[in-house]
Amino acid sequence: MTRDDSAWDSSLYDAHHSFVHEYGASLVDLLAPEPGERILDVGCGTGHLTAQLADSGAEVVGLDQSAEMLAEARAQYPDLTFIEGDARDIAFERPFDAVFSNAALHWIPEAAAVADSLAAALKSGGRLVVELGGTGNIETIETGLIDAAADAGYDIAPANPWYFPSIGEYATVLEGAGFEVRDATLFDRPTTLDDGEAGLENWLRMFAGAMLDEIPADDQQTVLNDVTAQLRPVLFEEGDWVADYRRLRVRAIKS
Ligand code: BEZ
Repeated sequence: MTRDDSAWDSSLYDAHHSFVHEYGASLVDLLAPEPGERILDVGCGTGHLTAQLADSGAEVVGLDQSAEMLAEARAQYPDLTFIEGDARDIAFERPFDAVFSNAALHWIPEAAAVADSLAAALKSGGRLVVELGGTGNIETIETGLIDAAADAGYDIAPANPWYFPSIGEYATVLEGAGFEVRDATLFDRPTTLDDGEAGLENWLRMFAGAMLDEIPADDQQTVLNDVTAQLRPVLFEEGDWVADYRRLRVRAIKS
């Protein structure tokens, strides 16, 4: 599964992975939205951060590629505007004062196309505030899954759907699209998963579907049992799984 799909289970996402938007609140503070500003929230998912942006009095549009996520966003926030669209090809007639994105852009490996598209959506001098998984993000989980699949005879590494750039790599991409990067930070954010004992398996089923789908259905549970057994000594702490998230947070201005 990639963020390109419309197949996300939005109720599972909200019920079991709420930390995604809870951590995003400080990114809203970094953007510092102003009343009357026009802001685009790229990869808005179920719209919780779009709503927080709108609380500032800004005019906000949420954009996502998943029809299922957008249906949930519209049900929860009927007064807000949500549009189905592709971050690689954003097309709005009126440019935005700011573009915001939390935990979405690491689903799109075509980073240069995304950066061009974000720049095209902004006014000159407009600001971009984004957070995505940075280099090394979930490395322990990803390696554990690939190794467990290899032990069962499957090479699932090529199906890895994620893009986790370094600061240098991402700044170069943004500069290539005409941005001036003002701040960039790469930091560890160990993240406690919901659901206690079941947390890692639920996370893998929700987010690593593209890799799990490479394994025949009959063998998937064996691989999931194997990866949880292998990672337990490293990532299981006092009844909860703690994922090795690393964030890349960037603030840039369209030159
Ligand atoms: C992340 O937010 O870093 C992330 C979430 C799901 C899959 C991979 C990375």
